[in-house]
Amino acid sequence: MNPTPEAPGTILIDGIGTLITNDPALGRGPLGEIPEAALVLEEGRVAWAGPRVQAPDADARVEAAGRCVIPGFVDSHSHIVFAGDRSREFAARMSGTPYTAGGIHTTVAATREASDAELLSNARTLVREARAQGTTTLEAKSGYGLTVQDEARALSVAGRVTDEVTFMGAHLVAPEYADDPEGYVDLLTGPMVETCAPLARWVDVFCERGAFDEQAARRILAAGAEHGLLPRVHGNQLGEGPGVSLAVEVGAASVDHCTYLADSDVDALAQAARRPEPTVATLLPGVDFSTRQPYPDARRLVDAGAAVALASDCNPGSCFTSSLAFCIALAVRDMGLTPDEAVWAATAGGARALRRDDVGHLAPGARADLTLLEAPNHLYLAYRPGVPQVAAVWKDGALVSGRP
Ligand code: NIG
Ligand code: FE
Repeated sequence: MNPTPEAPGTILIDGIGTLITNDPALGRGPLGEIPEAALVLEEGRVAWAGPRVQAPDADARVEAAGRCVIPGFVDSHSHIVFAGDRSREFAARMSGTPYTAGGIHTTVAATREASDAELLSNARTLVREARAQGTTTLEAKSGYGLTVQDEARALSVAGRVTDEVTFMGAHLVAPEYADDPEGYVDLLTGPMVETCAPLARWVDVFCERGAFDEQAARRILAAGAEHGLLPRVHGNQLGEGPGVSLAVEVGAASVDHCTYLADSDVDALAQAARRPEPTVATLLPGVDFSTRQPYPDARRLVDAGAAVALASDCNPGSCFTSSLAFCIALAVRDMGLTPDEAVWAATAGGARALRRDDVGHLAPGARADLTLLEAPNHLYLAYRPGVPQVAAVWKDGALVSGRP
């Protein structure tokens, strides 16, 4: 997201009913929960967090009046650079038509037609929408261009709204290469990655039947790595397959969807969670909701020891939500996470999936990215589904949405 001007001096957020720091050294449990808390922000960072009776003085004061403060959501998976609309495809799905990746082509056609200004305006609108719902870090992928030029311009647009930019020319084989999928992989791993790599941090591939097989996915991730891009994978969305094992093998930061997992996939993710740089299983419950797929068993993953994140996958096809609160509610209701685990997964979990240690927690030194909820504690995110509960959002210490 765009850098915002830093607020001058120190700001004390006082009277916090429940402060979620995600630092077990600062408070109770894995969420580092502090009751009756205060937080001090300085120069875009957290300067102090603790019980309010011990809070230091500050230049300005915000009254939380017993409400809850959590780290800003870290949404580690979105496709917000696109044009067009697929609401009718969604409606058909709800009446029984199954989801197929082929719908991506509808958005590719509309995105190629759109001007740069239109793509930027659409992306900015979605960033604003996400921010108003408590998201302070948002990853964004290309993947609706599928030509060198259209992928590059999608990445340029993404780079105007976020620092977490992913090259995903390997979303689907471009329509021009329908009869020559190998030729598209040659383009991807040659001229396309050369042009696109300087515009991105990550490379992603849709490793799934009907998209890219294991061999092609391996080539694409290797070509990305040669150009300095770090790997992430879309895998095991529509059926069991090689996505998870490939992601773990190449040390991807994250494998996303994980709707259909074999026991060996769960074992591999549990092993990978013990590495200093784990491969996170990023679950996208909004997709399973919006495609009428089964929900992944998050309980099974957590109990096995896997690292789990929750993200929106905001895109016009499989899931058009930008609400992490909605994803938390689904993960609690239908995927077996406790409310504590779900809040952690949408904040600290997302940060891990992006290999970031400056966001997703509120220990001193962290980026001052935080959300004041219109609720006394974080359990309300799942307890009151569908209800807007974000009062105010700070990013880099500056108020960017709502009013405290
Ligand atoms: O993450 N799985 C592939 N890509 C997107 C869906 C894109 C679309 O349907 O437009 C996803 O679900
Ligand atoms: Fe996706």
